[in-house]
Amino acid sequence: MKKLLITGGAGYIASHTNIECLASGFELVIVDNFCNSSIEAVKRVEKLAGKKVTFYEADIRDQDALEEVFKKESDIEGVIHFAALKAVGESVQKPLEYYENNISGSLVLYKVMRKYGVKNIVFSSSATVYGDPEKIPVDETARIGATNPYGHTKVMMEQILMDAAKAENWNVVILRYFNPVGAHDSGTIGEDPEYPNNLLPFISQVAAGIREKVVVFGNDWPTPDGTGVRDYIHVVDLATAHVKALQYIDKNPGVHVLNVGTGQGYSVLDMIKAFEKVCGHKIPYEIGPRRDGDVAEVLADPSLAVKELGWKAMYGLDDMVSSAWKWQSMNPKGYRG
Ligand code: NAD
Ligand code: UFG
Repeated sequence: MKKLLITGGAGYIASHTNIECLASGFELVIVDNFCNSSIEAVKRVEKLAGKKVTFYEADIRDQDALEEVFKKESDIEGVIHFAALKAVGESVQKPLEYYENNISGSLVLYKVMRKYGVKNIVFSSSATVYGDPEKIPVDETARIGATNPYGHTKVMMEQILMDAAKAENWNVVILRYFNPVGAHDSGTIGEDPEYPNNLLPFISQVAAGIREKVVVFGNDWPTPDGTGVRDYIHVVDLATAHVKALQYIDKNPGVHVLNVGTGQGYSVLDMIKAFEKVCGHKIPYEIGPRRDGDVAEVLADPSLAVKELGWKAMYGLDDMVSSAWKWQSMNPKGYRG
């Protein structure tokens, strides 16, 4: 495979993945509608990589626009499908928008791939498909049971892709990400939420004085310090898993489902303490009520990805929080600054 279509290619995880793909010799065609990103991310990726990408501003639900891309870029051989809406809370408020964007977008993409004979795809799935897991760590055979509309869209997107892959003989890697955090070590690309939904960008903004304090969602969970435990993974480690997945499907046809996590858990208080160490001052926090839909602990069993892809997470907690802080400090207004 040489030339790839990257849907949602201006987003947080895609930007980091684009860097790794360009470094590995892939040519990239990016499609994004900027509903949660900015062209600045694409420009910075080009600058960092020292290479150009081809960019189309388009919504993947627009079949004509997507077909134009496949016609113009007739030698696309593989796709990484990142484009989706991803905020759990918002998905509860606006389920129809989430189903419309994530499901319709995927259906159009898969139909256009079929029409243009593109058979290789890596798909961004999520640990959210496991809901509240019965057993920790979670392996890929665990029961699927999403607990919110966003999670349901990921379960459905996986299922549609698996069915299409079977009918069309596609080669697929479904990557179930655990909790991606951190940023590129240059400090020039990173996560840029206006209002953060997730813990680490929230801590970052409190550390930078943009927000007053972190609210810890419960300290009465059945975990060592009572706060929620998650499997945080450095976004650059996650990015390299995509390159390995692309190389893997070249030699291993069929459908593969892989967890991408570290297997190591950290609590909310661990994350706050680690951040205090890198930013050099206290991070104000208070204990609040549990957040609806949260679970005590989610940890990956990443051994299948390690075995099949020859991939392993290289970065630890210090790298995750220090890179997040570097990005925050260098870009107080994100890509808008
Ligand atoms: P992101 O919002 O930064 O990236 C998604 C990109 O897709 C954005 O640039 C957005 O503008 C684009 N997009 C959305 N709908 C589109 C459409 N219809 N047409 C064209 N472009 C569209 O999010 P991210 O964190 O980089 O997530 C990337 C993928 O990984 C998503 O599929 C997400 O569900 C999945 N994921 C993310 C996390 C996480 O915690 N960040 C965890 C698990 C899985
Ligand atoms: N938390 C707080 N305060 C905050 C934000 C989060 O205490 O302000 C806690 C949560 O209760 C949880 C932990 O920090 O215990 C992590 O919460 P995040 O919101 O960062 O991450 P989640 O594990 O809840 O969910 C994220 C994504 C999901 C995805 C999942 C697994 O939001 O879409 O990771 O990939 F499915």
